[in-house]
Amino acid sequence: MPFALITGASKGIGKAIAESLASRGYDLLLIARSSGLLERVAAEIHTATQRNCQWLAVDLSGDQAAETVFDWCQNNQFTVSVLVNNAGYGLSGPFEKYSAQEHADMLHVNIISLTKLTRLFLPGLLRQPAGYILNIASSASYQAVPYLSAYAASKSYVLSFSRGLRQELKTTTVSVTCISPGPTDTDFVNRAKVGAKGIKAAERFNMSPRVVAHISVESMFRRRPEVITGGMNKLSAFFAWLMPKSLVENVAKKLYD
Ligand SMILES: NC(=O)c1ccc[n+]([C@@H]2O[C@H](COP(=O)([O-])OP(=O)(O)OC[C@H]3O[C@@H](n4cnc5c(N)ncnc54)[C@H](OP(=O)(O)O)[C@@H]3O)[C@@H](O)[C@H]2O)c1
Repeated sequence: MPFALITGASKGIGKAIAESLASRGYDLLLIARSSGLLERVAAEIHTATQRNCQWLAVDLSGDQAAETVFDWCQNNQFTVSVLVNNAGYGLSGPFEKYSAQEHADMLHVNIISLTKLTRLFLPGLLRQPAGYILNIASSASYQAVPYLSAYAASKSYVLSFSRGLRQELKTTTVSVTCISPGPTDTDFVNRAKVGAKGIKAAERFNMSPRVVAHISVESMFRRRPEVITGGMNKLSAFFAWLMPKSLVENVAKKLYD
C-alpha cells in the first residue's frame, strides 16, 4: 500500500493526523526537525496499529529541504498517495521584533517547502488510482492579523494556492483540501511567542488536535475543497468577510500586541 507523508508529524495536529491515517490502514512517512520526537511517535503508532512508520528529521526552512524529503522517498522506493503539508509556525509580536532571516525561515516552512513538496510529489500522486493533498492553513488565512502579519499572509497563500491547484487538478485523480484550524491546543502559541492576552483568548476557544485531525482527514477523503474547523471559527471567518476590514483588524490587533 502507498504511504501517507505528513510534515510536522512530531507533535500537535500533524501527529494526530498521522495517528488517524495509521488507524485507517496507511503506512506513514513522518517529517519534522526533532529526531527524538519522530522516533517516539513512529514507535507509538507502530505499536498501536502495526503500520510501517518511517521518519526523517529535516528542517523545512532549509533551501534544499523539500528535495531531501523527495530524494529520501525515491531512494527507498516509498510511493506516496497522500501528501499532508502540515508543518508550520507563527512569529507573534511587532514585525521588527524578528530579524529578516527569522521571517524568511518561517515563510520558507509555511510557503516554499509546502509548494515545492507539492510540485515534487504531484507526478507520483497523479499515477495513483486515488491521490490526496491536504494543506493546513489557518483561520488567519481569512483576514490580516496585526502582530502576526507575515504568518497570517503566509496562510492566505496556502488557502489561495490550494483552491487554485484544486481547480487545475479537477479532472484528475488527485484532490486538494485546505483545512483552516482556529486555536488548537498544541505547542503553536509557545513557538509563536504569543503573549498572555492571545493565550487567554485562544484557551477559550481551543479545540483538541485530535478533533482537528479527525475533521481534516474526513474532509480530505471526502475531497472537500476548504474547511474551517469548529462553529466559532466559521462564524469568525464569516464576520471577517462581512464587517469592515479595519474593524476586524483592530480587534485582532488587541490580541497579539
Ligand atoms: N495550534 C493552532 O492554534 C493552529 C491554528 C491554526 C493553524 N495552525 C497550523 O497547524 C499546523 C500544525 O501546527 P500545530 O498547532 O500542531 O503546532 P506544533 O504543535 O508546534 O507542531 C508544529 C509541527 O511542525 C513542525 N515544524 C515546525 N518547524 C519546522 C521546520 N522548520 N521544519 C520541519 N518541521 C517543522 C514541528 O516539529 P519540530 O519542532 O520537531 O520541527 C511540529 O511537528 C501549522 O501549519 C500551524 O500553522 C495551528
